[in-house]
Amino acid sequence: MSGQLNIELKSETLPILLRVPGPSDAKALLEILNNPSNTEFDPHAGDGNLQLADIENIITRMCSSAAMDIPDRVNLVVVDTSLDNQVVGLGGFGHIATDGDERIGDAGIMLQPEARGKGYGVEAIKLTMKYAFDELKLNAVTLTMLKKNVAMWTLIEQKLKLQGTERESEFGTEKSYMVRAKDW
Ligand SMILES: CC(C)(COP(=O)(O)OP(=O)(O)OC[C@H]1O[C@@H](n2cnc3c(N)ncnc32)[C@H](O)[C@@H]1OP(=O)(O)O)[C@@H](O)C(=O)NCCC(=O)NCCS
Repeated sequence: MSGQLNIELKSETLPILLRVPGPSDAKALLEILNNPSNTEFDPHAGDGNLQLADIENIITRMCSSAAMDIPDRVNLVVVDTSLDNQVVGLGGFGHIATDGDERIGDAGIMLQPEARGKGYGVEAIKLTMKYAFDELKLNAVTLTMLKKNVAMWTLIEQKLKLQGTERESEFGTEKSYMVRAKDW
């Protein structure tokens, strides 16, 4: 059973692709997840003190989920093919919920500071959306972030032309966006 393990979302316009992480990505993911500038707006992030063994366990869990016939998450690393296939970020679906007959994926994207400002963020989200509807056959995709994460919601509103809703959470005001398959 390989499920989504071998998927590769390749951009036609930028030198990036998204794929499921493997054991050899542990060091790159450690740097990404321990970089406070990547997690400053993520209330669920750790204290920036993850160890290599933690990341190896995380990757094992990511692979197990991706291998499922109906995955409950598909985490994907972002690879810069112009930099000798360096892993520069993490995206995909941190959670795919089943609600009655519907499956709804929550998408995210996190890029190392040196990979930002090149259009990779919006391209990764677009590739993820297309994958959600064409391959995973999800009914909808949500994007949720704290309101103080101006970069993320500006990207969504300016580049994807989506309108969000706001709600209060224990971590502050959140902005949330939903795209249904029929609207993509
Ligand atoms: C949010 C993030 C993914 C954006 O990635 P990026 O590759 O720099 O974004 P892009 O280059 O694709 O930018 C697309 C648009 O987003 C908006 N944008 C991006 N960064 C912005 C910023 N710092 N401030 C305001 N708007 C910003 C702009 O509209 C930009 O379009 P423009 O370049 O034509 O002005 C990146 O800043 C990041 O990884 N942040 C840390 C992790 C994080 O918070 N992720 C979101 C979790 S929900």
